[in-house]
Amino acid sequence: MKKTIAVLPGDGIGPEITAQAVKALDAVAERFSHEFVYRYADIGAVAIDRHGEPYPDSTHKVCMESDAVLFGAIGDPKYDNDPTARVRPEQGLLKMRKALGLFANIRPVRPYESLVSASPLKDEIVAGSDFVVVRELTGGIYFGEPRGRSEAGDKAFDSCVYSVGEIRRVAEVAFGYARRRRGHVTLVDKANVLATSRLWRETVTSMQKNEYPDVALDCMFVDNAAMKMVSGPKTFDVILTENMFGDILSDVSGVINGSIGLLPSASFGSGKALFEPIHGSFPQAAGKDIANPVATILSAAMMLEDAFGMPDEAAAVKAACALSIEKGICTPDIQAGRSVSGSGADDLCKAAGHCGTSAVGSFIAKCIKDSCC
Ligand code: IPM
Ligand code: MN
Repeated sequence: MKKTIAVLPGDGIGPEITAQAVKALDAVAERFSHEFVYRYADIGAVAIDRHGEPYPDSTHKVCMESDAVLFGAIGDPKYDNDPTARVRPEQGLLKMRKALGLFANIRPVRPYESLVSASPLKDEIVAGSDFVVVRELTGGIYFGEPRGRSEAGDKAFDSCVYSVGEIRRVAEVAFGYARRRRGHVTLVDKANVLATSRLWRETVTSMQKNEYPDVALDCMFVDNAAMKMVSGPKTFDVILTENMFGDILSDVSGVINGSIGLLPSASFGSGKALFEPIHGSFPQAAGKDIANPVATILSAAMMLEDAFGMPDEAAAVKAACALSIEKGICTPDIQAGRSVSGSGADDLCKAAGHCGTSAVGSFIAKCIKDSCC
């Protein structure tokens, strides 16, 4: 099969990690006789520098002309520390999500057995966790109007706005996942305080009753959910939540998994699907060959499975990632005192006691090519 993939490396570690995902995709193409054509485009701070805006029309065009989008990361400290900046890299990501109509963001969490002790949480809490966060991605406080500053500049405001239609379409995605999994949706909201949350609860509860009676639904306040995620993550199957709660709770999943550098995501909507690691641009690590490429490689696996209908190819990528972790061919974030073993690790990794971003990517790509697992 021939597929065109828009590759948007973005900022910070984005270029290094997307390069590893491309290595893995090339290995898939070779082993399974596909042809992947990559079209590179700018987004984020790098796009502001080159084009004056964080999501230029030329980038949108490349996305629209491709079969799917692979995205790295966005963000640069020079904007974080400047609250007066007129344009910010993050606006590019939000604009892209809106322009591509990506209303559902899927963030699966399932710790690797060999990494259970890499989590700061107790092994018995982490082991066996397996859930998916379905985060609404194009509404809520990230996009609501009015927003801004009062004329005198001494007040600022953001609006959280949701319509029944926006809630329904993402809830359908969550119920769909639950049917293919363990049949349980937890709606996370703040219905004791927020009007939007009460609309979520009303809409989702009535959908469950009338359209998804085979799926169990419970509703949980977000503060309680945050506590449950670190004290009993096994109780979750599908977490359905609005944009900002989903953003916050999905970073907590990085603690359960041992590293946020392992968590992939997929975003779906009305058109092209987008695949990206959930971590950010990690500017302190940029160019140091220490960033974990696995989240991005697993995002590419989600692309193969969910956008291209290639489950065997996706399985080969996931198995190669699992093998790299099992053998300790890992970046420092998940090395956790384990030794680098196995013939696949090069001498540099062995001497350093961990591997670089590129070495991990090369190992995974070789493993895919050689059908090693
Ligand atoms: C994420 C990120 C983004 C978000 C930022 C970079 C705008 O944190 O994808 O989780 O808040 O959605
Ligand atoms: Mn986030």
